[in-house]
Amino acid sequence: PPKPPSIWWIPLKYLSLLTLALQNSSLSILMHYSRMPTVAASEPYSAAMAVLVSEMLKGTISLLFAFARVDSGVTPHEMAPAAFSPYRRTLRDEVSSRSRKLWHEVFSGDCWKLSIPAILYVLQNNLQYSAASNLPAATFQVTYQMKILTTAIFSVILLRKRLSSTQWFSLFCLAIGVAIIQIQAGMQHHNAELAAVASSSSPQTSTMNPLKGFSAVAAACFTSGLAGVYFEMVLKNSKTDLWVRNVQLSFFSILPALAPIVVEYRSEAADVGGGVFATLFRNFTPAAWATILVQVLGGLITAIVIKYSDNILKGFATSLSIVISFIASVALFHFQVSPTFMLGSSIVLAATYLYNTPTPFNRLVPSSPLQS
Ligand code: C5P
Repeated sequence: PPKPPSIWWIPLKYLSLLTLALQNSSLSILMHYSRMPTVAASEPYSAAMAVLVSEMLKGTISLLFAFARVDSGVTPHEMAPAAFSPYRRTLRDEVSSRSRKLWHEVFSGDCWKLSIPAILYVLQNNLQYSAASNLPAATFQVTYQMKILTTAIFSVILLRKRLSSTQWFSLFCLAIGVAIIQIQAGMQHHNAELAAVASSSSPQTSTMNPLKGFSAVAAACFTSGLAGVYFEMVLKNSKTDLWVRNVQLSFFSILPALAPIVVEYRSEAADVGGGVFATLFRNFTPAAWATILVQVLGGLITAIVIKYSDNILKGFATSLSIVISFIASVALFHFQVSPTFMLGSSIVLAATYLYNTPTPFNRLVPSSPLQS
């Protein structure tokens, strides 16, 4: 990967990995919390609308970065003060020159390649909301680590990377750890249902559907691995700027993100009444907006991590976030720490550590240059 710039002596690579770990844990907690029924809003906000808003925000921020970085072709001579040069460019010339260049870069011949990860990420971001609504925050976070497995498989297929036997072993342990947590979560849900029936109250867990949650996580792990590796392949195979690639990604996300909203709106408009905006942004609580902002931040940091590190290191950063969100779940949602959950989490963490520890026998070796 290219040498990353540094901010206050800290290399951007490590800063982005650390920020990603913190972002990941706050996202799973915020997402879960924002979807919980409250007195004011018994139904959660539209996940599809949240995905569209975050894609548009990410696209706008990336566009600003790309605009600032695009080479306008202005020479020092042209930038000289008017008094010294009759050829000084006006601000309008500068803006139009940059806009033209940026337009050509964004809609260059290979821009269509970004449509694949764009569709996959939109699907994944919608699935994440479904998973976070149907599983406890810590369970969602740990189970989502299965994306390390899918990332490895797609890295082998698309990037022609080779995994050592230690790494395959650690992936096997990861699957075992996640399975243990799944069984434990299923049992916890069953007990909560029994307790709810006994006391005729409706605890928060009774609105959750673990089977739906786990299916959503499994599908999100598949798209995460494929989209992440595909984005890495496209990014590292060309000289196109990261922010231009991000603009292309957001551009191709708009249509797939809009599709479920149109379907949702058609079925809801008749029941709810009111204007289009009131219907689409129904129950958008401050927690929902906070979730969207953290999602946007995550997308931008993920792109930086993929550029300056790779998807494998990204997996290590997210495993750190398990510990953070686990502690926070215990404190915020009174998540019960059972020995089974501890065992499963420990196996997942140990497997992630083993997978990411480079030793002479445990190293990812690309056997051929990246292929597009
Ligand atoms: O869970 P995972 O690490 O695969 O999630 C990646 C997230 O980062 C997704 O929400 C995706 O939309 C976002 N992303 C992005 N821009 C990129 C790459 C990923 O916004 N270039």
